[in-house]
Amino acid sequence: MTYEFILIHRQEPIALVQINRPQQLNALNSQVMQELTSALEELDNDAAIRCMIVTGNERAFGAGADIKDMANATVVEMLERNWIAYWDRIKKVTKPVIAAVSGYAFGGGCELAMACDLIVASESAQFAQPEINLGVIPGAGGTQRLTRAIGKSKAMEMVLTGRAMSAREAEARGLVARVFPTEVYLDEAKKLALEIASKAPVAVRLAKECVNKAYESALADGLDYERKLFYFLFATEDGHEGMKAFVEKRKPEWRGK
Ligand code: CAA
Repeated sequence: MTYEFILIHRQEPIALVQINRPQQLNALNSQVMQELTSALEELDNDAAIRCMIVTGNERAFGAGADIKDMANATVVEMLERNWIAYWDRIKKVTKPVIAAVSGYAFGGGCELAMACDLIVASESAQFAQPEINLGVIPGAGGTQRLTRAIGKSKAMEMVLTGRAMSAREAEARGLVARVFPTEVYLDEAKKLALEIASKAPVAVRLAKECVNKAYESALADGLDYERKLFYFLFATEDGHEGMKAFVEKRKPEWRGK
């Protein structure tokens, strides 16, 4: 498939998907989201790839949904487009997806970063849900994921004022996993992706599922889910290999089985 608004950089066992609509600060229209989700789904089915990175450029990860595209839309048109479903498709990717964020992660861009599994940011990253300034509200998970990530009071402040949060504040509040100088944030995201890619693939997949379950369900359901997947891993060769390697004081050899 050829893409207009994204670039794919394969560096097996990882791949980087870069949103490339710089003149509009990577505003997310339907085509950008269609290309991004298709690329991630393709990479998810590619056995040579173990971890993906979604990124933008230094100035903008994504300045949100394309306002020019929505400005005159009716409610029926918005319902029929159903393009917010693209954020759900990203959530369904089974391999880990790291958001490497620099510059603006606003509105749908912040929601895109939050739909990924974890966020690595540059010092210049800014996170905001400024929809209130447009007379609307976040529509791709902003009120829900941000609240779970940083707590009610802070999320309420951001959603009701549209105020942006710096990378350092986002890290302190748990929205962001790591912050790095802008010159190296992408290299650091790649190192992290390579580290994740070096782990036992089935365990990585199920660990991702479990953490997402914690984030999306009540505690009792999450604990139950985690326990089942933990037991399930004893049916994998890698599970036994990892424990045997520890006992035998050697490095495990993962086979993805
Ligand atoms: N949609 C469409 N175009 C956008 C855009 C967006 N979300 N954000 C920026 N652009 C365009 C601008 O219109 C401008 O294009 P032109 O040169 O053709 O005029 C270009 O990108 C550069 O933007 P600015 O000149 O505004 O750059 P700046 O550095 O002065 O400001 C900014 C940067 C603060 C991010 C500002 O562009 C801005 O506030 N953008 C809108 C952010 C926003 O409100 N996002 C939420 C959208 S709604 C949403 O996302 C709903 C949802 O939940 C799914």
